[in-house]
Amino acid sequence: MKPCQPGDWVARSLTSVWHPCTQMQHHETMPLVPVSHGRGAWLFGTDGKRYLDAISSWWVNLFGHANPRINAALKEQLDLLEHAMLAGFTHEPVIRLSERLAVRTNHVLGHCFYASDGASAVEIALKMSFHFWRNSGQTDKREFVCLQGSYHGETIGALAVTDVALFRDAYGPLLQQAHVVATPDARTAEVGQSAADVARRAAMQLEQLLADRADKIAAVIVEPLVQCATGMAMYDPTYLVEARALCDHYGVHLIADEIAVGCGRTGTYFACEQANIWPDFVCLSKGISGGYLPLSLVMTRDEIYRGFYDADVKRGFLHSHSYTGNPLACRAALATLDIFEQDDVLNCNRERATRLTTALKPLAEDKRVAHFRQRGMIWAFDAITDDPAFSRKFFTAGLQHELLLRPIGRTVYLMPPYVLNDEEIDGLAVRTRKVFDEVIGD
Ligand SMILES: Cc1ncc(COP(=O)(O)O)c(C=O)c1O
Repeated sequence: MKPCQPGDWVARSLTSVWHPCTQMQHHETMPLVPVSHGRGAWLFGTDGKRYLDAISSWWVNLFGHANPRINAALKEQLDLLEHAMLAGFTHEPVIRLSERLAVRTNHVLGHCFYASDGASAVEIALKMSFHFWRNSGQTDKREFVCLQGSYHGETIGALAVTDVALFRDAYGPLLQQAHVVATPDARTAEVGQSAADVARRAAMQLEQLLADRADKIAAVIVEPLVQCATGMAMYDPTYLVEARALCDHYGVHLIADEIAVGCGRTGTYFACEQANIWPDFVCLSKGISGGYLPLSLVMTRDEIYRGFYDADVKRGFLHSHSYTGNPLACRAALATLDIFEQDDVLNCNRERATRLTTALKPLAEDKRVAHFRQRGMIWAFDAITDDPAFSRKFFTAGLQHELLLRPIGRTVYLMPPYVLNDEEIDGLAVRTRKVFDEVIGD
């Protein structure tokens, strides 16, 4: 292959690649960055420039790019088995991964069903919930409940339980109607209200709905603790406690979409652990493979699994994807779990988090900033600005300061991989401040 000049890559990409989540015309003014390689928290452009990947490449990368341990595991797996179908066959990586994840839930969620992307996992959880009720004779239970501002992916089923207008509105006529209930977003607190008060207030609205329609409702789906895509809306664990109790009381499933917040992102391996609850379904993806390969899965209770176990094929869960349980992706996930266990990652992240929160203090106290917030390895704040192009300007200015940051609307957030050293943490805080000053002005 003939080596390509940096400028050529951009032109060729714009000619032939339709980039995700992008109004392509914006690339007339917004840079497109051709990446040649990655090391640790850094991505390197074909022009030799480098960028600190402060959003873990859409929240997937946990232990840095080209991680030697994950690379070694993958290289070994490549020579053993790249893929085999999972219907009628099985293999060591998928078995070990399912077992190790079940252990992490104390065997409450004893079975794993596999797919590739996050949205597929959400589709699976929704279908499984509906089908479980159908198998148990409750065919009317076919409605779903999601939270205001929820985001669960972009396929038609997942979009139906997504409440972000920008992604949803164009496809509204295609989508099944879901019940949207109040968000426990702590930013909605009234004077004198705590985050837990907001959570209880929101749970009361959920209770009204369930009291009215539980016989028609299959499941409530939530993003535990942080509603990321709507703008890092953080909320108190009380909401999860209440939602679990309400779902138990009214006989409705609770689906925890931990695609963004799982794998240690909020400080515990599963975000639900902070509420001491287990849902009926957990969706995982993104960080599960360390950010290496598309892998998603749905964990569920054995009681739900047993609801499908029957001589009748139609009572089985016949859903599938060609790459379900791909051995390479599962092996990357096993190597990722090894790192969690061998490096005491959750504790080390607490130290990283304290340092970055301290370093971000000047921004947190800035009068042009509202609602500075942090949970685990997620930081966010809302810029006080009306500029509709704020996010794009911030992204572009960030690149000038060796930073990859993509604000959501006017919410600036940091979601770095779990490998930053002290120097990188301090540099990230200083650069974020500089970019903010440049974009927002005085
Ligand atoms: C909470 C949540 N659910 C589902 C998804 C969809 O995952 P994917 O983009 O892999 O389909 C995302 C993606 O950002 C997410 O944040």
